[in-house]
Amino acid sequence: MNISFISVVVLLAIAPPSAKPQTTKSASTSNVVVDNVPTVSAPAVVPTDTVRFDGDVVVRVSIRSAQDLMLVNQLSDDMWSHHVGVGGDADFRMSQADLGTLDRAGIPYRVTIADLQNRIDAEQTRLAQPMESLSWFSDFKNLTAVNARLDEMVAAYPNLVSIVNAGTSIQGRVIRGIRISRYPAGTVLPAFIFTGTMHAREWASTMTTMWIADQFVENNTSDARIAAVLNSAEVYIFPVQNPDGYEYTWATGGNRLWRKNRRLISGTTYGVDLNRNWSVGWGGSGSSGTTSSDTYRGTAAFSEPESVGMRDFIAAHTNLVGHIDFHSYSQLWLWPWSYTTTLSPDQTALAAVGYPMQTAIASINGKNYTAGPSGSTYGLTGGCIDDWTYGTQGMMAGTIEVRDTGTYGFVMPTSEIVPNAKENHAAAMAMMEKLLASSPITITLAPGSLVADNTASTVEVQTIPVVSTLITNGVRLKWKLDGGTIQSAVMTSIGSNKYRASLPAIPCGSQLSWFVEAETKFIITHAPLNKPTSFNITATNPCGNPADLDGSGIIDSADLSLMLLEFGRCDVASNCPADLDHSGEVDSGDVSLMLLEI
Ligand code: ARG
Ligand code: ZN
Repeated sequence: MNISFISVVVLLAIAPPSAKPQTTKSASTSNVVVDNVPTVSAPAVVPTDTVRFDGDVVVRVSIRSAQDLMLVNQLSDDMWSHHVGVGGDADFRMSQADLGTLDRAGIPYRVTIADLQNRIDAEQTRLAQPMESLSWFSDFKNLTAVNARLDEMVAAYPNLVSIVNAGTSIQGRVIRGIRISRYPAGTVLPAFIFTGTMHAREWASTMTTMWIADQFVENNTSDARIAAVLNSAEVYIFPVQNPDGYEYTWATGGNRLWRKNRRLISGTTYGVDLNRNWSVGWGGSGSSGTTSSDTYRGTAAFSEPESVGMRDFIAAHTNLVGHIDFHSYSQLWLWPWSYTTTLSPDQTALAAVGYPMQTAIASINGKNYTAGPSGSTYGLTGGCIDDWTYGTQGMMAGTIEVRDTGTYGFVMPTSEIVPNAKENHAAAMAMMEKLLASSPITITLAPGSLVADNTASTVEVQTIPVVSTLITNGVRLKWKLDGGTIQSAVMTSIGSNKYRASLPAIPCGSQLSWFVEAETKFIITHAPLNKPTSFNITATNPCGNPADLDGSGIIDSADLSLMLLEFGRCDVASNCPADLDHSGEVDSGDVSLMLLEI
């Protein structure tokens, strides 16, 4: 019995079977061809009410003025670019018949996809073919296949992979993810989260997140870089954040180009844009209050169970330090803020991770993704997930728009799946490695193997923040005596990136263990190991007889000789083990005490 099967049953129980898909201006007027008299030769998978786009094209339009934009918006309500601004180009789906209107208005445009419905039909036909012998990534996969694959990963690697979930969609589907970790649940480690398919039609994002999952699971020991990340961090992957919408883009009777979730708003109007439903900048530019809009933000921030589920999952995992939300398409890598063009206070730190990620992408197949702060690089979008993960959770976060740049848009050929996934996996790796190495700590002075009774010892470290600067009092020495509570002391800067602090003396019969942590904006790193559960055991102070000066186990003439060497010479009481009576001097009183023990 698997969860996806249950989901399907739930869906069948609650989805209105006769609900008409929300249609768009061009699709609902002259262009919808309703195949209400299917012939025997018609493909059985195409039901009578699947939304079709016959006669539609995708055009790249130059928006020269607000007037141009108004006209284009009258011709199309399906913008394929995520953003449009005056003075830029944007992709729209519209009826071929409406191109004449653009011509008459003198608006420059170029048809990028002339045969949209043919491409969707070809995809449909291809997906109907059996393909067992091929790799999982040889074609796009529906929700059932994604869920089955996640379950297979758990079955094959039960000590590494477990299923996690982030609540339930409007139609009752579980928002499923996996946790990839070598450590038991609850171990405190830095964590990363990669999310996909918040927008239903962006199938390339599903395959990208699944590829990252696959790499981490299958190559968890064989790939040295993945192994290193898994030694000091854990990874969460949610390939489909909008399961209802995704299912709808696959379903017979659905719409391949659906973006939003599947909330029934009224009549035949469905859907809230989940990436306009988060609280940071909610209601701002780039979101719409019109229910039929593809960027409809909902009635309030977190009005939708899908965003609530993701929010609660992320908020509960306070060890999360990095997040990429994958979308398609445009080949962009965007970091906060999205809701404003004002640079975030952490722009330097974001860029210090962000540009190496861009370089990592290009290093795989030579694709140059445009990178930068979202607001100025892309345009304003209020209420996005990454402004929230960064702005409220303090995570390094951003959005990658994967391939392509518009030649295929959402209906990507299968030959692009793996090359696209590989270059975006490289971005994820670069983010993780950069953050994990953000402040490497070298221990330059550590106490010896045994710290003498009532002697404090010094720890000295060097830490070089390579991603962002250390926060105030960000270098700390932590220790515990035996299993006691962890104590903490801010280490004092002594120049040249060096810091110093003391460990207390170890009482007799106790063991002292310690580590050092360095905190930057996005991540806390640790020495000796990059996890705070790992202590450096300094010393155990056994409760020997203080008169046994040479530690031989018996008090004999050798101890007496050692004492006589110190006779009259002890000047630092705390560092004079022969001063048995703590008088401040080694004298006849100490000899008497020793003789009593001999
Ligand atoms: N393309 C995505 C959308 O329209 C994200 C755009 C905003 N940028 C960002 N970093 N969130 O929802
Ligand atoms: Zn998107």
